[in-house]
Amino acid sequence: MSPTELPAWKALTAHAEQAKDVLLRDLFAANAHRFESFSIELDDLLFDYSKQRVTEETIRLLVDLATEARLGERIAELFAGAPVNQTENRSVLHMALRASPDAPFQIDGRNLMPIVLRTREKMKGLADAIGHRTLKGHSGDPLTSIVNIGIGGSDLGPAMATEGLRPYWRDGLSAHFVSNVDPAHLTETLAHLDARHTLFIVSSKTFTTQETLLNAHAARRWLVSRLGEGAVEKHFVAVTANAQAASALGMAADNVFEMWDWVGGRFSLWSAIGLPVACAIGMDRFNELLDGGREVDEHFRAAPFERNVPVMMALVGIWCRNFLGIGSHAIVPYCQALERFPAFLQQLEMESNGKSVDQQGKPVAGYATAPVLWGAPGTNAQHAFFQLLHQGTDIISADFIAPVQSHCEAKEQHAALLSNCFAQTEALMMGRQHQDPTRAFSGNRPTSTILFDKLTPRALGRLIALYEHKVFVQGTLWNIHSFDQWGVELGKELANGILPELSGAPASPHDGSTAGLVARVKARG
Ligand code: F6P
Repeated sequence: MSPTELPAWKALTAHAEQAKDVLLRDLFAANAHRFESFSIELDDLLFDYSKQRVTEETIRLLVDLATEARLGERIAELFAGAPVNQTENRSVLHMALRASPDAPFQIDGRNLMPIVLRTREKMKGLADAIGHRTLKGHSGDPLTSIVNIGIGGSDLGPAMATEGLRPYWRDGLSAHFVSNVDPAHLTETLAHLDARHTLFIVSSKTFTTQETLLNAHAARRWLVSRLGEGAVEKHFVAVTANAQAASALGMAADNVFEMWDWVGGRFSLWSAIGLPVACAIGMDRFNELLDGGREVDEHFRAAPFERNVPVMMALVGIWCRNFLGIGSHAIVPYCQALERFPAFLQQLEMESNGKSVDQQGKPVAGYATAPVLWGAPGTNAQHAFFQLLHQGTDIISADFIAPVQSHCEAKEQHAALLSNCFAQTEALMMGRQHQDPTRAFSGNRPTSTILFDKLTPRALGRLIALYEHKVFVQGTLWNIHSFDQWGVELGKELANGILPELSGAPASPHDGSTAGLVARVKARG
């Protein structure tokens, strides 16, 4: 059923019309407790949405919307292993990957926990061996440089988390991520590495992804040219749901880490796709990341909607997108370690909810789905795109994310970082009147702020899981299929056709532009 037919949607439409001239600064002036009323604490994590253009009435109606869309039942179905990925007829159970051993995750009566635990044990084996320097390469030297080869969900999550948790890296190890089929990515990465110490992790759920396979073959050639064919077995491991294809690359069966079709690529960080993270920080720390995710699962299932962080993140997002007409959402971590977080969320949110067909197979009509999501760390972003956030003609919503404490000693710099974070949300909300219009700020630009004590593995696990569940809630309310990604297929298919043409195969019919571009490469390449 289209969400627009729900009574709460209609009420929200009318409410938005009435509320359109309400100024956030007036709401704050009128209510000394606005911050307390419009924020939620989850242990040391604080979600402050008081700078969103919402009133008590807005929240009441948004919660009604979630109730009318039967969100509670949908959450129960998700956790019960129902095939909520309907177009692919699959369950969506990445929560099992971070669950405790006795958790009741099943598909068709089959308990998932034994295979999850088996894989966790296997990850621990590799991570421990790397940490203890007992994992030796072909020449007997310890393997200390990890190169993850993967793309999309097989890159963005592990790359983001590995970078985010750099203070926890074990001494003497390094981790690198190669995703782009642009040969420069692999070449530049390998230029600084010694084959004798390098372990490649080829991560691909399907093991059919062009970029990953080309990079894996190139990495294999690099290794063989230095250490010989016999080295492959010791220097390559794979993470995949397609073990057969991995063995075709010469991967020993023992070196293949399992994953499963009930784990979506962009939700797979918790599986063996997180192997580079586990290697870099050790399995105990990786388990803390899982703990953080699991805590959010428990909160998501149990907390009433109005006190439920991911539900409120989603509802506030729906308010901005569908009732305030905001089509662009910025993610601004005030935390250099989270530099890759916006890119990770781009896949999570845009690949999940960038859809225009509803769950009944009809075009989405009369409402918008996922906004464009983008971002960069503050304070750098302030000196790049914040001008537009403050004074551009489009209103852009934003999430500001910051740890209260730094891993570094430099308290003064960290205080400067936080002061900038808070100042920006205050400026976006309050605005400023000025007789010179070029110096005036309209204000009333909505933001949420997420604060947590420190970027520990647990805190990062929580943060990621919050956004994962936000995506589920929004997809449910928008009545779309959040767990497929058919939209990326057409381009892949056409690229496969164009590739041989670039090296001389007869050209198939193309539009004039594409034919012209192909011809130019053939003439000048
Ligand atoms: O092309 C999109 C996509 O299918 C993503 O959903 C996925 O994360 C990525 O490609 C990589 O896929 P794989 O892990 O199978 O190589």
